[in-house]
Amino acid sequence: MIDELNQFEKEALGKLAGLNDSASLQAWKSEAFGKQSLLSTALTALGTLPKDERPLVGKRTNEIKQALTKAFDEKEAALRAAELEHSLRAEALDVTLPGRPARRGRLHIATQTLRQICAIWADMGFQVYRSREVESDEYNFELLNIPKHHPARDMQDTFYTTLPDVILRTHTSPGQIHAMREFCPHPIRVVLPGMVYRYEQITTRSEIQFDQIEGLAVGKGIRMTDLKGTLTDFARRMFGASVRTRFRADHFPFTEPSAEMDVECFVCGGKGCSVCKRSGWLEILGCGMVHPAVLKNGGYDPKTYSGFAFGMGPERIAMLKYKIEDIRYFWGNDLRFLEQF
Ligand code: DAH
Repeated sequence: MIDELNQFEKEALGKLAGLNDSASLQAWKSEAFGKQSLLSTALTALGTLPKDERPLVGKRTNEIKQALTKAFDEKEAALRAAELEHSLRAEALDVTLPGRPARRGRLHIATQTLRQICAIWADMGFQVYRSREVESDEYNFELLNIPKHHPARDMQDTFYTTLPDVILRTHTSPGQIHAMREFCPHPIRVVLPGMVYRYEQITTRSEIQFDQIEGLAVGKGIRMTDLKGTLTDFARRMFGASVRTRFRADHFPFTEPSAEMDVECFVCGGKGCSVCKRSGWLEILGCGMVHPAVLKNGGYDPKTYSGFAFGMGPERIAMLKYKIEDIRYFWGNDLRFLEQF
């Protein structure tokens, strides 16, 4: 029996020495100490042994158990250390490496321009007034003095919906009526930024959707000189204190008189270049004194009240400022374009 035990110990220790992962270590443990192992069967067999052999076998069994336990603990500790070492090496982190910069988004060039323009008007006392993009024919045209079948309708074709007279707005001007009807009879100073839609052929200069910023001032005693002074001040704040402006007579159904405002070409300083098409001037907005019919539609008595209005396209202004040649870039969602601003 003693010989068997010695043999068992030798084999177990030999096997243990050759192990190098924790799964086989656990398997070894249940084999060495489990119910089937010689250590267990020797103890249960004690009673069947001759009396003088019993203490010797009992003692030897305990010695072996202790020796194997100690060897197991050592092996387990060594394996754990080796595994830790291995994983540290395999997952090594170089904490001195510089971090990768996170890619940050930015505001769209149209939004940047829109906000810059609104901020200038805010400084001049004009509040932002938001107005709907889905409009009625009445607000988009009729209340702005553009009756059905009037030739002025040809200038702005729109997208119709399946609902009668529900359309996408072709300009921000219908917001004038909304603002007037909300504020009447109080004085008004608002700018109305937002997207407008036109059923047009898409070219380098025209899109089916683009932003506009409308402006409206209504009150008592507002005159053409107020319009000219205010818009000239805006141009100075937008394009620089020394910029020159000029007004040219024009026609819009909702203003009378009407004008276009040009600013001196900031690319060539008025000398004439490709951006201003050799004229020295850049056209940036339409404007005029609010037509009496429109004032009346907004609820204001044109005998007592007057006002001025204007409308500009921020994309067109950004095109001039950054020499962007094609308006289709704005809503084409090409990052190579958008990331330049
Ligand atoms: N609504 C005009 C357009 O889209 C722009 C415009 C011109 C607005 C003159 C105005 C204005 O308020 O007074 O072409």
